[in-house]
Formats: sequence, structure tokens, C-alpha cells
Amino acid sequence: MPELAYVNGVITPLEEARVSVEDRGFQFADGIYEVAKIFDGKLIDLDRHLARLENSARMLELPLPMPLPELGRTCRDLHARSGIEDGVFYLQVTRGACPRVHAAPPGLEPTLVMTTRRLSRPLPEKITAITVPNNRWKMCACKAIALLPTVLAKHAAVKAGVNEAIFVGDDGLVLEGASDNVFCVKDGVLHTPPADGRILEGITRGRVLELAEERGIEVRVAPLPLDEFRAADEVFLTSSVLTVVPVVALDGRPVGDGRPGPVSTVLREAYWDFMRRFRDVTDSPNPSGSSSPA
Ligand code: PDD
Repeated sequence: MPELAYVNGVITPLEEARVSVEDRGFQFADGIYEVAKIFDGKLIDLDRHLARLENSARMLELPLPMPLPELGRTCRDLHARSGIEDGVFYLQVTRGACPRVHAAPPGLEPTLVMTTRRLSRPLPEKITAITVPNNRWKMCACKAIALLPTVLAKHAAVKAGVNEAIFVGDDGLVLEGASDNVFCVKDGVLHTPPADGRILEGITRGRVLELAEERGIEVRVAPLPLDEFRAADEVFLTSSVLTVVPVVALDGRPVGDGRPGPVSTVLREAYWDFMRRFRDVTDSPNPSGSSSPA
């Protein structure tokens, strides 16, 4: 079960992989990425991640190194070679390497990097969070590798002795976690902010909304003021790495009774059940459609 890296067609053990210091990802954060979960030997929702990658590329007018179906095969091949059962699949495309100049010269070859890693520690079953001012750019729907505001927000969380930071806009609206989407529950209704360009439209968020609707949970996708968020009965976060994780304390105060609530618990279990049932296209006898649970 080796942890592997792929750099422009060359596969090596992860620790041996190298890119040029002139790569525009390194110099300018001129690139995009995706993170997909590896669960029970399966790449969860790879097709949805690749569709979002294509959208991010379009937003930045960044050419992808190969057509999407070929990219999918390349991801699945790397994952199969690593044989990792539970971990994280990372994919990054940058505009390529060239002498440092802000406007990229035409004709650059994009740099494609992929890595497979094992899960380094058990996933938390509940977490704590603080809110922080949103100081990010206006293209948060693009999964860009320029993550300095995220890094600073995570540092603020560490300093505060909590696990995550949640961005709140100047207008008092709750947006998303530093690396996850936010949900809250009030009187049995599930609330989450809209994917209106101020947040990343999470793949896990999308699945959780589908699972909530299947279970007859009332869902309200609408702007979420901080005071309503703070008064919620339950709060939880979603991401490909965390899956669904309840937030039991926010800004130093307990959320609800300070324990994971019933809706968060139902949706966490529903998401884990979805992952257990998930079948990728490569597992299907007819590998033509998009992946979905059996
Ligand atoms: N982050 N919002 C932000 C800002 C994110 O960075 C992420 C994912 C999400 C959740 O998206 P998804 O459900 O598709 O993982 C929401 C990844 C895990 C990361 O940067 O490591």
C-alpha cells in the first residue's frame, strides 16, 4: 500500500516527487485542486470532483492537461497502483512552469500532480470551532490553490484551541468553514448557505442535501445570519475528508446541549452508508454512466 505521487506522467513514491521551482503553482498559486476521499478502496465521487475541477479550470481559463475521461482513468490507475483502502486522493493542476512573469506566456504545458495518502489519524466524531472574518476573494466557487486566508484562519483556530474556523462575511452572513461547508439545524429544519459564489459548492454538501431530502428532512438553502447560526440546535460541517462532523462548541459556547444532535447523527450515518454502498464506474459492468450508489 505505497503512498504514491504522479507528476506529469511520472509515478514515484510520494516522498520522491518533485516539481520545478519555476512552476506557477509555486510562484503565483496559479492553479486549482481537488481532494477526494478514499474509502474501503473506493474513490468516492471522483466524477463529481472532476466535473468541479473542469468548472474551476474554466473560471481561471486554465487548460486541463488531458480530456476529463482520460484524467479520470489516470486518477483511478494511480489509486489502483497504490492499493490504499482509506485515505485521501489529491489532484492539482497548475498553469505550468516558466521564467517568473505574472502574465503566463501562451503555450505552457499545465503541470498535473496527483498523490495518494493513507489516513494519518482517525477522523474526529465531533469538533469545536470559532468564527472569523471572511477576507477571501470573490471567486470562492473556484477551488483554487491560493489558500492563504484559509491557512491564517486555521492558525487562528489552533491559537484559540479549537479545530476549525468558520468564515463570516462583513454583512454578518455565515459562509463556510475554512475547508468545509456549514449546516445548522433549528426546530428540525436543516439550513445551509447558498452556493452563490461566496462558498465552494462542496461535493459532500451536495450529497448531504440529497440524503436529507430522501429522508424527508425539511431543507432551507438560504443566507444564514450569524445570530441565527449561533442560536441553532445543531451545527455540523461537511467535506470529503471529514465527511459529516458535528460542531459541539462555537465561539466558546456549547451548540445546543453540547453534544452531537439527532439530525447531525442521522445525516452522518446516512453519508457513511452512502460511502459503503458507493460503486465507482470502474466497478460497474457497464462503465458508461456516472457513478452512483448501487
Ligand atoms: N476542502 N469549502 C471549502 C473552502 C473547502 O476547501 C472544502 C474542501 C469544502 C468541502 O468540499 P468537498 O465536500 O467537496 O470536500 C468546502 C478540501 C477537503 C481541502 O481543501 O482539503
